[in-house]
Amino acid sequence: MRILGVSCYYHDAAAALLANGLLVAAAEEERFTRVKHDFSFPERAIAFCLRQGGIRAADLDFVVFYEKPFSKFERLMLSTLQTFPRSWRVFREAMLAWLGDKLWIKSRLQEHLGVVPDKILFVEHHLSHAASALFCSPFAEAAILTIDGVGEWTTTALGRGKADWDGRGRNEILLQEELRFPHSLGLLYSAFTAFLGFEVNEGEYKVMGMAPYGEPTYAEKIHRLIDVHRDGSFQLDMSYFSYHYHPERAFNGKFDAVFGRARHPKARFVTNKTSRYDDPDPPSLEELTQNQYYADVAASVQRVTEEVLLKMARHLYETTGLKRLCLAGGVGLNSVANYRLLRETPFEELYIQPAAGDSGGAIGAALYAYHVLLGRPRKFVMDHVYWGEEYGEQALHEALSEKGVRAELLDEEPLLDRTVEALIQGKVVGWYQGRFEWGPRALGNRSILADPRSEKMKDIVNIKIKFREPFRPFAPSVLAEKAEAFFDIPEAARHYPARFMLYVVPVKKGDVIPAVTHVDGSGRLQTVHREVSPRYHRLIEKFAEATGVPLVLNTSFNLKGEPIVATPQDALRTFYKSGMDVLVLGNAIVRKDR
Ligand SMILES: [Fe+2]
Repeated sequence: MRILGVSCYYHDAAAALLANGLLVAAAEEERFTRVKHDFSFPERAIAFCLRQGGIRAADLDFVVFYEKPFSKFERLMLSTLQTFPRSWRVFREAMLAWLGDKLWIKSRLQEHLGVVPDKILFVEHHLSHAASALFCSPFAEAAILTIDGVGEWTTTALGRGKADWDGRGRNEILLQEELRFPHSLGLLYSAFTAFLGFEVNEGEYKVMGMAPYGEPTYAEKIHRLIDVHRDGSFQLDMSYFSYHYHPERAFNGKFDAVFGRARHPKARFVTNKTSRYDDPDPPSLEELTQNQYYADVAASVQRVTEEVLLKMARHLYETTGLKRLCLAGGVGLNSVANYRLLRETPFEELYIQPAAGDSGGAIGAALYAYHVLLGRPRKFVMDHVYWGEEYGEQALHEALSEKGVRAELLDEEPLLDRTVEALIQGKVVGWYQGRFEWGPRALGNRSILADPRSEKMKDIVNIKIKFREPFRPFAPSVLAEKAEAFFDIPEAARHYPARFMLYVVPVKKGDVIPAVTHVDGSGRLQTVHREVSPRYHRLIEKFAEATGVPLVLNTSFNLKGEPIVATPQDALRTFYKSGMDVLVLGNAIVRKDR
């Protein structure tokens, strides 16, 4: 039984292949096309899934799309008509896009894959999200919370699900409560993302990174925009927003009147707490004051988001009585909030699928079809993210010789020793191994690594390597069995979200690992497990033997504004365009100083 899951036409397009209930491949289209957040029809991701599965499209039993295009079309029609004529631009653009392409996804899939219409299924957007968490989790039963910008109509869904392991019970997902467009926590966060000068659907992480520089002093002001009830349900006061009728602006003049001038996208972010590495132009008092204000706004919207999530989760616990929680939707990537859900609600365990946003819908749709629509029992837990393409030794060597690059080929032990040596010497290392990651985080197969013990490493990697905003924190990859010594997360190895870098937790020895400790003393850890990433685990083990510190700084292998690298060619290009010192490509080491 082979099922292809597809998501596209909104945020991140992706495809995933299930064979008899086991995940074979999953990838986002952007990795292949090199267009960040590519949402177009995922031709290349689909081709990869079929290639990885060793099958042709004709061998597929079902193709499942992650939402119901007609419901979504109805939502767009009605919501733009309700705000007409203000919404005429949204209306016009939506009609062009939908009548041209989106509505006809079924025929597109049929044509592209040559499958009969009966094989094409549609699953509702939030059910796809819910299934992507529940059926990837190890839980047989769990409460489910899905929150995103918006799916068809739903922006938040609360419910429960059963995921049967032995074939005797029933698999089901019941989403009992929901909030509907335009009332959306994701869109509220996105409106502030835009206000703070970042790109919507891209800069939400930056708001989360900016928040620790501020205090949530404007939380009360934000509560003017959102009326939160005891159970976490809420209503937005739409008179402050324009995303429901304007194609580019998320908020309007009334919002400006409360929060003042939006931050300029090109403005630098400097406060008394941001670092001053290589800064020839010290900020004026006015610049500092203005930036502190934006940091406080970021802290406030983050705080309000956390409060709403906590209320919803507590309500969900009360109504289901279940001890485990599955979280999905883009808001599930808010790793600061996730850890608070673990620590401050009665839920004992959380599972968050690493591609919690819309790309994850591809896996969720396929799993929903297999387990719920077809009633097949569980077989699979997603305990790692290495579901993308591997290019093989041959391809690595070809890429090196195409570029005329001299590389040293080594066996694993000396290869790792050399890498550790380079890290200790303060070099920044590109680390490229195996299959690329599924979801937005690089977790040790397409990573840039550095020594976490050096304070200045943060600035070096931020400014010289990634050319990104200097205030953003870096994450540590830590041996799962040693994580408690450095991070406040009891039984760290047990928590799946920590494998996927989805918890931000207090750091215990921030002075020992300043490069991965954020300004508020927190760190977004990735626990590394020997059985799923043996080589990466061994590397960190060797780093620990040499330094006593069982973790490395890990950031995604890409330049600012580009998707994470996929092919060895992408890796070499990025290596030479950036200030990285060493590149480990499979078993080959490339150094710039040679
Ligand atoms: Fe979504």
